[in-house]
Amino acid sequence: EAKKLLGVEKDELKLSIDAIRVLERKSLLKDEKGNIIETPAGMVKRVAKAVASVDKRYGGDVKKTEEEFYRMMAGLEFLPNTPTLMNAGTDLGQLSSCFVLPVEDSLKSIFGALTNMSLIHQSGGGTGFSFSKLRPRGDIVMSTKGVTSGPVSFMRIFDQATEVIKQGGKRRGANMGILRVDHPDIIEFIISKGNEGFLDNFNISVGVTDEFMKAVEEDREYNLINPRTGKSTGKLKARDVFDLIVIMSWRTGDPGMVFLDEINRKHPISHVGIIESTNPCGEIPLLPYESCNLGSINLSKMVRDGEIDWEKLRKTTRLCVHFLDNVIDANRYPLKEIDRITKNNRKIGLCVMGFAEMCTILAIPYDSEEAIKTAEKLMKFIRDESVKKSVELGEKRGSFPNFKSSMWANDYKAMRNATVNTVAPTGTISIIANTSSGIEPIFALSFVRNVMGTQLLEVNPVFEKIAKERGFYSTDLLIEISKTGSIKNIPKIPEDIKRVFVTSLDIAPEWHVRMQAAFQKYVDNAVAKTVNLPANATLEDVRKIYVMAYKLKCKGITVYRYGSKTKQVLVIAGLR
Ligand code: CDP
Repeated sequence: EAKKLLGVEKDELKLSIDAIRVLERKSLLKDEKGNIIETPAGMVKRVAKAVASVDKRYGGDVKKTEEEFYRMMAGLEFLPNTPTLMNAGTDLGQLSSCFVLPVEDSLKSIFGALTNMSLIHQSGGGTGFSFSKLRPRGDIVMSTKGVTSGPVSFMRIFDQATEVIKQGGKRRGANMGILRVDHPDIIEFIISKGNEGFLDNFNISVGVTDEFMKAVEEDREYNLINPRTGKSTGKLKARDVFDLIVIMSWRTGDPGMVFLDEINRKHPISHVGIIESTNPCGEIPLLPYESCNLGSINLSKMVRDGEIDWEKLRKTTRLCVHFLDNVIDANRYPLKEIDRITKNNRKIGLCVMGFAEMCTILAIPYDSEEAIKTAEKLMKFIRDESVKKSVELGEKRGSFPNFKSSMWANDYKAMRNATVNTVAPTGTISIIANTSSGIEPIFALSFVRNVMGTQLLEVNPVFEKIAKERGFYSTDLLIEISKTGSIKNIPKIPEDIKRVFVTSLDIAPEWHVRMQAAFQKYVDNAVAKTVNLPANATLEDVRKIYVMAYKLKCKGITVYRYGSKTKQVLVIAGLR
């Protein structure tokens, strides 16, 4: 019915009703009155055409490339990030999800960043900021001989501006706010999201150093430094600060942590600058003014006869790198500075989605050694193929201008992109592709999803199919499952099915972290993952997760305890 509404006569794209609803709201072109003027297939054609047209300047076969891009997207094997779907081939033409903007210690810089943020949000992108350079609350302001109210107060202005802009109604503006753990206002920052509604448009993370983690381990004090003077303003006990982070994230999900030293140690172009912030969901660490465009391979489509189809995955990976590299040139950047540095580094973020769904098709439980091994093998394969393709593009189209002195120059003669892989949340595009998001476990086998004010009831498609085949499918059963999302305690479901169809809250927290670390091993950007905890998780559980993430060389970590925000995105009917 929804398809008729949109005038899609031929069944070119096999989309779920949820997918169509999300596309309707976010990605399909509309006229001035808000009427939809393209079909989903039309959208895919528009995107394929705009992105493939870049081949012309490199002597490629534009028609062939367009056809290949179209088929890959129409088959839901790959989807680029939402701004590419929304804006490719339009006058706006802003195609990236991820930006980082610098904030220096002056009103001019702060309000300049605010203006720049508004332009990026309006075009569908998300912004990350480090506020670490701002002088602390109570510090002097020379011109007026007054005192400043510090970084957290300034963050409120960014939050309010985001609230007003709302990304043209298509997408809520998203921000990351980072403060270094040695900033004198760190306590105020850590507790800032304790009041519901405060900084609602921000994810916040404490920028943690190796030195701090060592001080936690050895139970020592560490220095707080005023960024304006470079001088110490006092000391705090590292464990007290760590405990406070744990308590607050147990209570509200914020702050997370980003491990700044690990990020910079692994940054392939560390000679270009120091990274202080990531994009809103943490998967892309970026230099000031850098942007990055993302796209995800749908792993559930990379399976054949119960096994991973490596040849298909190889071809798809190569085509995706080609696609994302083209996006850099097809893109219209909101600022000159962004245009310049983005083209100097040419970072792309090829990711995966549908990992958990793939595991169910392969009958591998997410919380098993086999799943971890599969994750490593898979991501290593995608990394190797991505790098190979980027090297080839570098030979043909030229390396990214900052290639010399980069880590890549140790091993290769050419490289097109300073980074190639990541794992994004895929919040919207996984709904369009009707698969599990990013590398997250299946959230629930049946649940209610709140999307932009609408409630959608979903049933896992692989589970539905198997339940029908094995003869235990019934509507009553689905209703029973939707109460908790899990089949763990439903007696009539066979044990082998229960083992494979584990859901997020059935899984011990350690497996979440181990899975994140398994992917991170072969990802040159970072991995967005939320360690979902049941409502009864303890402070000790959260503390263990944070320490484990650091030891396993993750670049950041976020936890979320079920029910700790009143406005959470995923809701299980019977758990409220
Ligand atoms: O699925 P989709 O491409 O829409 O995005 P995602 O994978 O859930 O998020 C990728 C990135 O898009 C985030 O890390 C943000 O940088 C940005 N984003 C945003 O700006 N606004 C949102 N409402 C959601 C995501």
